[in-house]
Amino acid sequence: MPTLADDLQTWLAQNRGRIGKLALEPRLEHIGRVARIGDGVATVSGLPETRLDELLVFESGVRGLAVDLGEQAIGCVLLGNTGGIAAGSIARGTGEVARVPVGDVLLGRVVDALGVPLDGGAPVAVETLAPVEQPAPAIVDRALVTRPLETGLLVVDSMVPLGRGQRELIIGDRGTGKTAIAVDAIINQRSTDVICVYAAVGQKGSSVAQVIAAVRRYGAPERSIFVIGEADAAPGLQWLTPYSACTMAEHFMGRGRDVLLVIDDLTKHAAAYRQISLLLRRPPGREAYPGDIFYIHSRLLERAAKLAPERGGGSLTALPIAETQAGIISAYIPTNLISITDGQIYLDPAVDVGKSVSRVGGKTQAPVLQSLAESLRLDYAQFLELEVFTRFGTMVDERTRKVIEHGRRIRAVLRQPQFAPLALGEQVALLTAVSEGVLDDVPLDRVDVFRECLGAWLPEHCPELVALDDRATKLSEDMHDRLTTTLRALAGSVAMPTTTDRP
Ligand SMILES: Nc1ncnc2c1ncn2[C@@H]1O[C@H](COP(=O)(O)OP(=O)(O)OP(=O)(O)O)[C@@H](O)[C@H]1O
Ligand SMILES: [Mg+2]
Repeated sequence: MPTLADDLQTWLAQNRGRIGKLALEPRLEHIGRVARIGDGVATVSGLPETRLDELLVFESGVRGLAVDLGEQAIGCVLLGNTGGIAAGSIARGTGEVARVPVGDVLLGRVVDALGVPLDGGAPVAVETLAPVEQPAPAIVDRALVTRPLETGLLVVDSMVPLGRGQRELIIGDRGTGKTAIAVDAIINQRSTDVICVYAAVGQKGSSVAQVIAAVRRYGAPERSIFVIGEADAAPGLQWLTPYSACTMAEHFMGRGRDVLLVIDDLTKHAAAYRQISLLLRRPPGREAYPGDIFYIHSRLLERAAKLAPERGGGSLTALPIAETQAGIISAYIPTNLISITDGQIYLDPAVDVGKSVSRVGGKTQAPVLQSLAESLRLDYAQFLELEVFTRFGTMVDERTRKVIEHGRRIRAVLRQPQFAPLALGEQVALLTAVSEGVLDDVPLDRVDVFRECLGAWLPEHCPELVALDDRATKLSEDMHDRLTTTLRALAGSVAMPTTTDRP
């Protein structure tokens, strides 16, 4: 009978063999300790090897980014909540930069800045990871912006047209419809193959939910990604959100796709960065923002590009949003962003055509639209100026009255409801109606009905117009005449309210 000593011997022999087979290897780990913690930032000492933007992992599993390298300690932005981290806790250097999942697995998903799902769905099946900070494409890798990115908003597409690969700032006071313009642009991509990435920074949960619901209802959610850093997320996560979203968008650009990136909004992004910087005791500059605030936005927006054909020819169009206070666009962050982007759409609260510009998109506008939009801006500007006079009850001559009545119809046509982007054919028809004076006999309050009826009317009466694409050239004379006749008939039928219109 085996004794206890024999058992022990056998056990030892077995386990010696097992340990011998184990592949043991030495691993070098950098371990530091938290010196100070709070408000989303931590100071860590004992990690002299750490490099800028290196990812650190804390004892609680929360990750952080080293953004400030001092001689004694490093400043670290936390990418999660501070719970579970205390002074003296251990922090490990990883030797890596922050990376996020990229690829088709993200399409249709709602994630945070680290790619963690927020939609209650399964974890993102990571196939490829890409660093959140990447250098912008070099000049030789870029090509001219040639194709338009249609937003479906007549006022934008006709007067401040955007090109694929352009950066256009949407700027305005609180509640002027900045998000609405961006969301309509995303929704309009349901009829294109453009992939949309919506990055929310410092937004209320309810606003974000509305955007997601609108895209799911009216747009192409299977081709959209939502990257969310809500107002109550850690400041580090909010700060990282646009970079992560940009990386997710770049992945598709690199594969030859056209991508639209909306960043809502960079004013809140700047505020999150200011908060982090002040907590890290960096010297404050103008409006208490740190000195590199311009750089952090420019290095983000420079990543928007139209790639050369030998690089796949993809494009990344960026629509950053900025909020102004009391309409002052000369404040620090707005002027920074205006100088970084290729133009701006200024909301006051309607699109202010005089202050909105697009420095690139004009050349890409569909030629058929271009020929109609040429005089529109001028006519509209002239009307706005004349209208100011009539506000004081000035008597005007017949010609001026006509210009004003015509201008009012332009404005009525440009005023568009939410979630109802217009196809190119509809835009061409509307602008033809304006330029031919078809609407001048339609009462102002019936112009909306005219626009609503147009969608169903066109396929029946002018099918060629429905087939227009962004390369279509100016309408032939014959086509133009037929369209005008059709539009006149439609105008006649909507000019008088019928009993069925009334509620
Ligand atoms: N074309 C439109 N027609 C009717 N209502 C609109 C239109 N565009 C925006 N709105 C309404 O205006 C309100 C403000 O819009 P939105 O939230 O887009 O503004 P914002 O500038 O993004 O606001 P914030 O500064 O709070 O982010 C919303 O209630 C929205 O439904
Ligand atoms: Mg908004």
